[in-house]
Parts: sequence; C-alpha cells; structure tokens
Amino acid sequence: MDLGLKGKVAIVGGASMGIGLGIANQLAHEGADLVIFARRLPKLEQAAAEIVRKYDVRVLPVAADIRDKDDSVRIVQAAIDAFGRLDILVNNDGAPPLGAIDSFDDVAWQKAIEQNLFSVIRMVRSALPHLTAAGGGSILNISAISAIQPIAGFALSVATWAGVIGYAKTLSIEIARHGINVNTICPGYIDTDRLQKVFASGTESPEAVRAKLITEIPLGRIGSTADIANLVALLVSPAGSYITGCTIPVDGGLLRALR
Ligand SMILES: NC(=O)c1ccc[n+]([C@@H]2O[C@H](COP(=O)([O-])OP(=O)(O)OC[C@H]3O[C@@H](n4cnc5c(N)ncnc54)[C@H](OP(=O)(O)O)[C@@H]3O)[C@@H](O)[C@H]2O)c1
Repeated sequence: MDLGLKGKVAIVGGASMGIGLGIANQLAHEGADLVIFARRLPKLEQAAAEIVRKYDVRVLPVAADIRDKDDSVRIVQAAIDAFGRLDILVNNDGAPPLGAIDSFDDVAWQKAIEQNLFSVIRMVRSALPHLTAAGGGSILNISAISAIQPIAGFALSVATWAGVIGYAKTLSIEIARHGINVNTICPGYIDTDRLQKVFASGTESPEAVRAKLITEIPLGRIGSTADIANLVALLVSPAGSYITGCTIPVDGGLLRALR
C-alpha cells in the first residue's frame, strides 16, 4: 500500500536511536524527506547517513535539546530553510528519570515539564503556521502506556504525559479545520537502549525483569521499534488523515482496560 508520503517533509525528534530512529527509517522508506534531531550530533549524523544510504531521501540532522525553547524554533526553521515546507511533526525524545514521587524537588518537576509537555507545546507552536501553509499535515506524539495505566516510579513521566494527552486532544479539535490530524501513541515495552536502562534500574537482574515483564504481555514479546513506526507512518499519511484526537496503545495487549 502506498501511504502517499513521497515528497512530504517530516521532523522526527530523538531520532539518533530507539523509537525515533525506527520512525525516521519508516518515513524515509515511504519516501519522506526528514529533519532529525537529538542532542549528540555524531550519533545523529551517523543515523542520517545510514538513512540516506538506504532510502535515497534527503535527511538533515540538527543537534538540539528539546528542553531549550530556542531550539524548537531553530529545528522548524531548519526544515523550512532546507526543504521549503513542513508536513509532519513527530514529537519524541528521551524521558525524565525514574524514582519515588517524594524524591523529586521543584527543579526535577520543572525539568520533566520542560522535557515532556513544554517540548510538545513549543514544537507545535513553531510548526503550526507551516503545516497550515502546506494545506494540512500531521502531528504525532510519542508518550507511554504508563500515562494511561500508571506505574510506580514513573511519576514525572505519567503526570507530564497526561498533560500532553489533554493538550493533544484539545489541539486536534481546534486545528482539524486546517486539515491537520493530531494523535498520541502510547508504547508499551519497546526494545531500545532506554528499556535496557529501565530493566537495570532495580535490584533484580535485567534478564529476570525482562522475563517477568514478558509474562505480563498477552502477545508474549517485547515490542520492536518497527511496531511503533508502522503505525506512525499510517497516522501521519494521507491514508490515516481521518484519524485524529486519538490516544493509541501499542503494547502487545498490556493495557487492561476497555477504553
Ligand atoms: N522504550 C520503551 O519501552 C518505551 C516505552 C514507552 C515510552 N517510551 C518513550 O518513548 C520515547 C523514546 O524512547 P526510546 O526508548 O526510543 O529512548 P532512547 O533509546 O533513549 O532514545 C532517545 C532519543 O531521544 C534523544 N533525546 C533524549 N533527550 C533529548 C533531549 N532533551 N532533546 C533532544 N533529544 C533528546 C536521544 O539522543 P540524545 O541523548 O543524543 O539527545 C535519542 O535519540 C521516550 O520518551 C520514552 O520514554 C519508550
């Protein structure tokens, strides 16, 4: 199925590795040109070169920290300067640290808000005029299943991503008339460096934690970055343009809820 992404321009955050890199690869496979960003440039440049080699699309790597408000403007401007248009914004990056709720002071909470919530607000603010000028487009946020089914120790993420879900739903209603859809994907356990760190953060061995978690997933496996990227490609494409305002778990059936 041709998703109609050839020649579209997408910004993909946190794309030097993990879920962001998987999304960048999938959009490039579908023919989109990309601006990818992360803080560490060497790894990002390596990712960009690899994507160009595999898919023969244009890829611009931009070193940026999503917690820096000027960087959100700079990333979008880089896309316009390089490609003259913007069709797709994928909000994805790292996440705040884990820990007990009462272990976090105001500074930690402020950083978490900057990383998860303000990053999305600022990127949307910068991108929106260009998505509108392009005659429509797509905004896609990556959050986590813990934002729907909270997990002890994940408070910084859960609280701030719940804000993203509320923001995204409201945004979807307000900008639908411009032909822009807005959706949020909530991954379950996805095989990335970050997940390895989560596995290693407790007292049990990472192997034991992994094995235990797999028993909780109805489909019986940890997800791959492609499991997320395949859905992203559909949602940001013309083929998925009637889907908006949704918060969608991609978790192998982990979430125990009717809606
Ligand atoms: N893996 C999972 O099981 C899972 C499950 C649910 C939700 N998620 C969420 O999905 C997102 C991606 O996770 P992942 O597993 O792919 O993580 P990852 O493998 O650690 O990759 C994170 C990416 O984001 C970049 N990044 C981190 N902080 C950044 C910042 N402040 N500004 C710009 N770029 C930044 C990293 O590059 P630099 O370090 O060079 O900046 C890297 O490219 C996270 O928000 C995570 O919480 C993951």
